[in-house]
Amino acid sequence: MASAAYIVLAAGMGTRMKSSLPKVLHKIAGRSLLAHVLTSVEQVDPAEVVVVVGPDMDAVAEEALNCIETAKIAVQTERLGTADAARVALPQIEGFEGPVLVLFGDTPLITPDTLAAMRDRVSAGADLAVLGFEAADPKGYGRLLRDGEGNLTAIREEKDASDEERKVTLCNSGVMSFAASALTSLIGRIDNKNSQNEFYLTDAVELASADGLKVGVATCPEDEVMGINDRVQLAEAEAITQTRLRHAAMLGGATLVAPESTFLSADTRLGSDVVVEPHVVFGPGAVVEDGAHILSFSHIEGSIVRENALIGPYARLRPGADIGQGSKVGNFVEVKKAVVEAGAKVNHLTYIGDARVGEKANVGAGTITCNYDGTSKHHTDIGAGAFIGSNSALIAPVSIGDGAYVGSGSVISKDVKPGSLAVSRAKQVEKENWASGKLKK
Ligand code: UD1
Ligand code: MG
Repeated sequence: MASAAYIVLAAGMGTRMKSSLPKVLHKIAGRSLLAHVLTSVEQVDPAEVVVVVGPDMDAVAEEALNCIETAKIAVQTERLGTADAARVALPQIEGFEGPVLVLFGDTPLITPDTLAAMRDRVSAGADLAVLGFEAADPKGYGRLLRDGEGNLTAIREEKDASDEERKVTLCNSGVMSFAASALTSLIGRIDNKNSQNEFYLTDAVELASADGLKVGVATCPEDEVMGINDRVQLAEAEAITQTRLRHAAMLGGATLVAPESTFLSADTRLGSDVVVEPHVVFGPGAVVEDGAHILSFSHIEGSIVRENALIGPYARLRPGADIGQGSKVGNFVEVKKAVVEAGAKVNHLTYIGDARVGEKANVGAGTITCNYDGTSKHHTDIGAGAFIGSNSALIAPVSIGDGAYVGSGSVISKDVKPGSLAVSRAKQVEKENWASGKLKK
């Protein structure tokens, strides 16, 4: 089948979100609504992608280009409706003759399979195909109106619908697939004579049907096409996405002990025989290799946890943490931009930032890499097999040699040679029988 052009409408501010952030930049599963849509689009091998943004939406354009480098950006100067937004995109695909799909940036759960099916309807001869769904609660959606034979004759926006039309539960998802020539000719004839004085793309259906063009309807489950207009819907879409991601992780061979309490990002990768105990959050960019075990209340983002490592409970892995094979990062330990090499142990109440912890090193409770001097960040290097006594502060830049030993409670500001003992705490003083005369009886 011929590949298609995709026009993604994302110029609306999304007033119902009550936000200073453009609607399509709100996130579900750690990824913007727009990025979800574009990720699906990318998977169906698009010939062209045009994203329509508002005049004040550089951040949306930037997000689009981050997802698809070759995407074209069209700017809709005034938000005059979905037909006007689609029209603004047309010059960017001038001369393109295959199917053109128009979809919304606020409908993030759309799957590549559904996009391909919509594309194929036009490749197979339809002039226009609309993706509909049976809505449990159709409020707010455009209704698909059909004649006695079941042919689609019009889409009626809720605000323009009669009481009778509002009873229809088959709704418009917003995804429409056009033959390029049909889109160009229909769009110029759409007017704004409706309750919102907007140019509705949905009016293309009535015009096409009156012209005797081939108009078809495809349907999909509601949870694939829910539109996000407010934060309640945002949370609903998050819940649907989490369920999808949890299922995929479990079917991929990870045990989620209490899946409803595991929060994943769209790009989280869990290997086989990974075990995730209850209440773990994966932010964007987390990779957990085979056999690793993540204990409760850990928070992991931008990190790699290598085979058979043990994390948590209550561990925080921040971006750039690389936790080696079979190593342990225990409770109340924070690791940022640091490599913990294979078999190393950082078990309790510790901050490791901008550092390397060498193979099989042991970092005692309460150790802090003092990486920031108020101006810049500096590196701490802990050699293989080194032992850092509890409650030590390692003032970066500093290096602890292989197999060196740092006495508990030390503040280390100078490099320690391999195999040395370094102790910097004050010597213990003891005055015999000193206390007995001082303490109240
Ligand atoms: C729209 C559909 C409705 C459908 C519903 C599905 C129309 C007229 N209505 O309604 O039939 O059931 O989606 O979720 O198409 N946009 C622009 N420029 C504009 C206006 C909108 O780019 O001038 C973009 C928005 O950013 C958004 C999308 O188009 O991504 C849809 O706009 P929205 O205002 O959310 O339309 P709905 O009222 O949800
Ligand atoms: Mg909407």
